[in-house]
Amino acid sequence: MKGIILAGGTGSRLWPSTIGVSKQLIPIYDKPLIYYPLATLMLAGIQDILIITTPDDQAAFQKLLGDGSSLGINLSYEIQEKPEGLAQAFIIGARFTGSESVALILGDNIFHGSGLGRELAKCTSPDGAIIFGYEVTEPQRYGVAEVDSQGNVISIEEKPEVPKSNLAIPGLYFFDNSVIAKASRVEKSYRGELEVTSILEMYRREKKLKLKPLVRGTAWMDCGTVNSLNDACDYIRVIEQRQGFKVGCLEEIAWRNGWITASELKQLSKIFNSNEYGQYLQRLAL
Ligand code: TTP
Repeated sequence: MKGIILAGGTGSRLWPSTIGVSKQLIPIYDKPLIYYPLATLMLAGIQDILIITTPDDQAAFQKLLGDGSSLGINLSYEIQEKPEGLAQAFIIGARFTGSESVALILGDNIFHGSGLGRELAKCTSPDGAIIFGYEVTEPQRYGVAEVDSQGNVISIEEKPEVPKSNLAIPGLYFFDNSVIAKASRVEKSYRGELEVTSILEMYRREKKLKLKPLVRGTAWMDCGTVNSLNDACDYIRVIEQRQGFKVGCLEEIAWRNGWITASELKQLSKIFNSNEYGQYLQRLAL
């Protein structure tokens, strides 16, 4: 399976902080935001990943992450000229995806929880599409799914006034290869965007849209607003300081997945000039 991180957008809710720099490059506690969605794909075992950015920001992402070879992964880059919707990821990423299945994660979505990687790894050969459901107290703020007892999606509604469930849909989707053809048929919505919900609706009509609940105790955060971004920083800081393990540490995940050796991990740690991040990698590599 291939992976796409959609890391464009305007980030206007975070202006002025994101006027000069992409939202996905600003720090969430001790690492840039994009590390977290990239970590999620890596935990699912995905090694071939496309990063879609705005034209202005592409060089900065390449400076940060390079071609991925030092992490045992393969990173490609494409540009989204304008933020014309999530479904555009599959038009921009059609050549990259080829004939494979593909996972899409939004560049500002953070997932964390015990066993999450193992759960996601089970979704990498979908027969149709797999989305996730996250119990929230204010479903009105999200895309909301209604499901039957087998996990088949009955309906999806964007920001409904009267939600049919408490299940919000996070920005992580697993698709079979037909998503590429489906995306090419999507028409712009009243918002002027190519909506991922239009693609999900096509799968739903084919009865090929499954929802997996994210278990209680899983954290899902998007960093779209000043408050949610600060909540995410606090969450990562508390977990990391309490447990001594980092969340979303790409070098660690690559090593634990067996994609790089301990001596390669040690080598990588030297980049960080013995700062706290580098010391952490040093300790792992011992
Ligand atoms: P949003 O938070 O919906 O949009 P945004 O990031 O531009 O922020 P704002 O609403 O404050 O202006 O986007 C969610 C994620 O998806 C975010 O990581 C950016 C990304 N995205 C794209 O890369 N391209 C797009 O066309 C859209 C709609 C979003």
